[in-house]
Amino acid sequence: MKVSIIGAGAVGATLAQRVLESGLADVVLVDILKDMAKGKAFDLLDASPVVGHERNITGTDNYEDIKDSDIVVITAGLPRKPGMTRDELVAKNAAIIKDVALKVKAHAPKSIIIVVTNPLDVMTYLTYKVTGFPRNRVIGMAGLLDGSRFIYLIASELGVPRSSVETCILGSHGDTMVPLISKTKVGGKPVTDIMERGKLEAIVNRTCDRGAEIVSLLGSGSAFYSPSAAVFKMVDIILNDKKETVTASAYLEGEYSLKDLCIGVPCRIGRAGIEKIVELELSQDEKAAFLKSAEAIRSLNRDCFGRFAASQ
Ligand code: NAI
Ligand code: 2OP
Repeated sequence: MKVSIIGAGAVGATLAQRVLESGLADVVLVDILKDMAKGKAFDLLDASPVVGHERNITGTDNYEDIKDSDIVVITAGLPRKPGMTRDELVAKNAAIIKDVALKVKAHAPKSIIIVVTNPLDVMTYLTYKVTGFPRNRVIGMAGLLDGSRFIYLIASELGVPRSSVETCILGSHGDTMVPLISKTKVGGKPVTDIMERGKLEAIVNRTCDRGAEIVSLLGSGSAFYSPSAAVFKMVDIILNDKKETVTASAYLEGEYSLKDLCIGVPCRIGRAGIEKIVELELSQDEKAAFLKSAEAIRSLNRDCFGRFAASQ
């Protein structure tokens, strides 16, 4: 198995370590900073006798090395600075993603792409459009991470095992994300039966702001341990054909009455990538919030494509 990771920064390099040290696949780590990618690859290889694996990693800036990848993960691009929203990254990252997506299309045309770069739903849509890959092979990672943050915060507030909490977060990986309270359960019971409304609202807000909270604490760069863990889980589900349902950004063709955008929805994932988009019953409020989130993504998509049209 072969996983290529474009962008050898915080998320890319941590993901490389997870994939390599789990023994799941060989890794190609691509970055415009070739020596940096090579240095990180050497460092990870030097650790392999101690960790005890026989996997290989190549650090490179040459896209010919990604040939025959099963999965290509795109993390290339700028992360947020303190005080910045994910959406403010659109102009710079769109130019990077367009370039990277064309190279992935040329050198790994059969791969499944997992997009990580922000603003996530817009960059996933751009990758889908630029590559022309079928929609099952372009997946954006976000909902799994946002849901994991929500679960952690609920479990820690209630003092219960994290494994006893289940939830689902739909919509954009941005300010309009939609934590589904109606689908949030603790030990099988509705969270609203267990936690008072004010506390739950505070946790919902903290979940939506969790990325920014971490950005301001780190001082430079953004979260990478939890994002790389979420991507790793998706890579594992795909390579081992586990057919699990996770929330991910997918191109919609009429599901949830929406078309022609990528947005976070529950997806059953397996060896073919997105094998099914699951349509959940939503309450009136949840439906309205989801549509509002879709409108925010559409507006950013227009901004992104408008810039390309203006620059050509
Ligand atoms: P980073 O700055 O540590 O790494 C980015 C890497 O991309 C750098 O090494 C840079 O040299 C490389 N790069 C830039 N342009 C490139 C190009 N044209 N070709 C190849 N490599 C290129 O950033 P980090 O923390 O790894 O984050 C990467 C992206 O992922 C950011 O846009 C960030 O906002 C996003 N992100 C998204 C998450 C999500 O939930 N979807 C979670 C965490 C980060
Ligand atoms: C996060 O949520 C930066 O999108 C990234 O941490």
